[in-house]
Amino acid sequence: MRFRVRPRHDPLPSEITPLAVYQQRRQLLQAALAGAALGAAGLAPAARAQPVPPVGQALPGKPNPAFSVLDRPTSRRDITTYNNFYEFGTDKGDPARHAGRMEIRPWTVRIEGEVLKPRDFDLDDLLRLAPLEERVYRLRCVEAWSMVIPWIGYPLNHLLRAVQPTGNAKYVTFETAMQPETMPGLRSRIIAWPYLEALRLDEAQHPLTLLAFGLYGEVLPNQNGAPLRLVVPWKYGFKSGKSLVRIRLTEQQPVTSWMRAASNEYGFYANVNPDVDHPRWSQATERRIGEDGFFRPPRRTLMFNGYADQVASLYQGMDLRANY
Ligand code: MTE
Repeated sequence: MRFRVRPRHDPLPSEITPLAVYQQRRQLLQAALAGAALGAAGLAPAARAQPVPPVGQALPGKPNPAFSVLDRPTSRRDITTYNNFYEFGTDKGDPARHAGRMEIRPWTVRIEGEVLKPRDFDLDDLLRLAPLEERVYRLRCVEAWSMVIPWIGYPLNHLLRAVQPTGNAKYVTFETAMQPETMPGLRSRIIAWPYLEALRLDEAQHPLTLLAFGLYGEVLPNQNGAPLRLVVPWKYGFKSGKSLVRIRLTEQQPVTSWMRAASNEYGFYANVNPDVDHPRWSQATERRIGEDGFFRPPRRTLMFNGYADQVASLYQGMDLRANY
């Protein structure tokens, strides 16, 4: 992953979704949900039976303050126009420019390996599996920039429980889509495609690990990993695979795409850690996208991206320098 300083960007007022507008929209969505006579599950059966709405349509989730940060969300425009999705190119603007062509309907996710009930899920199956929540998470990229994103999704563990991991399952690999006709980045050799990421099973089962279908109260835009992607908020952004097509449970620790590309730079764990530098730059500070300006000092990077209370116990007794 190359390090790029984001060019100075003075957003037009129309480019920013102000917090007040966003909160007002959230209240409207909550009112709509409440009006639909929600059951304890949090989603009206009638709404759940509908086919998945197209990109850009509302996809409300019940706000979950217990799993949300209070930081001001990054503008929708920055979240959707400045990001990494190397299948569409390595420039931060490439995903927004090219991902619109990705075909996301129909979509199937295969779950296989060390599970008692391997099977294919289509999007409707997946959306029926658990009530959607809205969780505002910090995202910290390995290139030392960060964002705050209001995701719509549910804990991945709902899906894992549905397929019943066997006693041998210790790791979970996430394989993401390869569409040579729509993804010009696949021609580059930066990565041995498909993009593979992985977690230890207990990390994948952690309640913070989210399977996301939307952001800012809407269906995920293609460039952010439509129709479904992972979000692991205490790890560097590259662990959160986009546009998932296959999830495999194994006994052996897998080799991920970035470990294969540069194992001295990208380890299996990739926990956000201000004390462990990337070989080519420090990880002690970060720039929050949308806040960059000449006079604003960078932010201090937080251990586990600020989620230490919830996740530090997963790594008790481990040397986090050796297991970077
Ligand atoms: N998933 C795929 N399939 N391809 C990618 O290039 N980039 C990763 C991750 N998931 C990537 C991916 C990186 S480096 C980051 S920082 C996040 O997606 C960015 O997520 P965002 O677009 O929601 O900000």
